[in-house]
Amino acid sequence: MSEYIVDRLGQLGDGIIDTPNGEIFAPFTLPGEHIEGNVENGRVNSPKIIKPVSDRVKPACKHFKSCGGCSLQHASDTVISDWKIRKTQDALSQVNLHPEFRPIINSKAGSRRRATFAAKRTKKGALVGFHGRASDVIIEISECPISDPILLSGMPAFSQFAILGSSRKAVLRISATVSGNSLDVKIDNGKKLSATEISKFAQICNQFKILRLMWNDDVIAQSNPPSQKMGLADVIPPSGAFLQATKSGEAALIKTVLEIIGPSKRVVDLFAGCGTFALPISSKATVHALEGDVNMIAALDSGWRAAGGLHDIKSETRDLFRRPLMPDEFKKIDAIVIDPPRAGAVSQVVEIAKANVGRIAFVSCNPATFARDASILCNNGYNLDWVQIIDQFLWNPHIELVAQFTK
Ligand SMILES: C[S@@+](CC[C@H](N)C(=O)[O-])C[C@H]1O[C@@H](n2cnc3c(N)ncnc32)[C@H](O)[C@@H]1O
Repeated sequence: MSEYIVDRLGQLGDGIIDTPNGEIFAPFTLPGEHIEGNVENGRVNSPKIIKPVSDRVKPACKHFKSCGGCSLQHASDTVISDWKIRKTQDALSQVNLHPEFRPIINSKAGSRRRATFAAKRTKKGALVGFHGRASDVIIEISECPISDPILLSGMPAFSQFAILGSSRKAVLRISATVSGNSLDVKIDNGKKLSATEISKFAQICNQFKILRLMWNDDVIAQSNPPSQKMGLADVIPPSGAFLQATKSGEAALIKTVLEIIGPSKRVVDLFAGCGTFALPISSKATVHALEGDVNMIAALDSGWRAAGGLHDIKSETRDLFRRPLMPDEFKKIDAIVIDPPRAGAVSQVVEIAKANVGRIAFVSCNPATFARDASILCNNGYNLDWVQIIDQFLWNPHIELVAQFTK
């Protein structure tokens, strides 16, 4: 066994030791810690902590290390926040951008409103949990401190769905979203159900407050609509559709986006989803909302129509990678909100750079693609005024941020 001192945290939260022969990864360790272990394929697999640092904390969950959901429960909030800010700063400095960073905003434990469970039938019943770290093994869980307790209240139902509705070796993929005090559930990989089984599933849904159950490609049970409040509108998202990970994170994102667009009267919302930003903005400005998923745009439009009294929202389904909004379509627009998927939005940003819109609220979940897109804007006359990290991913390496660009 050899002894090492951990130098830094890597992209996914593993401790990293820099050596003349390259990096050695040491999971669940922190910078400054003295550790001992054997290196295999560039990795210390079960590092023994000889000298911990004061930033080491007791993990909040008994499944930490085996469950693949969290990778940083052993680190203090300060270490995690500083690391997320630094990761984002590093990505931006690679394109020569050094903006101001506002203090990070964090989501609390127990606030995650979406989760994807795995479940399978066993000889004795069913196994419900999350996939293990980098493996297909299902780790049965009895607690999950990051999740809203309403998500966990569905687990007995998921167990029954696996017993009754999964074929011998299949693993059910269960995407659950909190809707009010209830759940909206989408299950993939289930067997074909008979009419009797479907009515049994509807009873289980009633018992466990599941408002809607989508089984493979069909909604097989729905009591009340699983709606989500967006601004003044109630929206019924398509089953399994993207929503921000926590309610408080979403509220902070909306507040920051509204601050950036300021008194703008005509706003374009690119990658609009079901209207997370477009609907709150429509209380004070007209919006052209564009999104690639036809069902999400339909949900946004229905929510807007049913709410009434809001400014106009023109909803458009459009693939913004292939058919970005062109410079002449930004004429008369005062502000842009853009919130692309992890891949970023290079083709759309190139067109924005040619237009002349004074304010941009850029929301991103990937510092690397954000840095690339930001450099295109800044090379074309925009200033990156500040970055605000809004961390919805407690104990996890994911990063969510909003940035203000002006010109
Ligand atoms: C990070 S989500 C943001 C959604 C929304 N702004 C929100 O906060 O709920 C990115 C959105 O981009 C959409 N999307 C992905 N690829 C797209 C494309 N090529 N064209 C248009 N929209 C796309 C996804 O369907 C998703 O709704």
